[in-house]
Amino acid sequence: MFITLEGPDGSGKSMQVPALADFIREQGFEVLTTREPGGTFIGDQIREVIMRMDNKSMNPRTEILLFCAARAQIVAEVIRPQLERGAVVLSDRYADSTLAYQGYGHGIDLGTLQSILNFATGGLKPDLTLLFDVDVETGLSRRQKGGGEWNRLDDYELAFHNRVRHGYLELANCEPARWKVIDASQSPQQVQLDLRSAVLASIGSR
Ligand code: TYD
Repeated sequence: MFITLEGPDGSGKSMQVPALADFIREQGFEVLTTREPGGTFIGDQIREVIMRMDNKSMNPRTEILLFCAARAQIVAEVIRPQLERGAVVLSDRYADSTLAYQGYGHGIDLGTLQSILNFATGGLKPDLTLLFDVDVETGLSRRQKGGGEWNRLDDYELAFHNRVRHGYLELANCEPARWKVIDASQSPQQVQLDLRSAVLASIGSR
């Protein structure tokens, strides 16, 4: 089973991953967690190039191809083999990040992105996508307070982040069977409980 976590910057996704992985293990599954961009030796090098503050002049098309190059590597090297062994793969971001950020955020044609994503992933789609939904101001201020690395991508204007958020909500609306929207403005404990019940429901329905 392939589960992805998606959401705007500062939505608190990453901090929820370890406890959610433990919970799925308690249900009797082997779990592997990954994150994008990165997650492989080659992908981590690509991540460096994408995130460097001094790569400000990066063309949006270059950025798309780099995200998708890192993704092609992790799908082939890690995600597919683990799924074939019967493990649950829990990925912090996946293809929907490209649709939300590069598609809705930067205005790159969604159909074109879908073709590139299909090529990169060989058509691998998540079984369940958990969307951490939080308003943009809360997300960005959490991120600043959290003292996390402040990278080049955080410098985009608020309007960009709003387009990303609404893009995610539109994607979730188009495919309600795959997506579960989580209210990420709640306490971390409540968010974790909501994640667990969404995962249990999805496991139960399979
Ligand atoms: P990261 O520091 O990993 O942030 P987060 O904890 O929010 O996941 O940075 C990832 C950034 O890259 C984030 O701003 C989203 C962006 N991104 C894209 O624009 N497109 C993509 O395809 C992916 C995977 C990430």
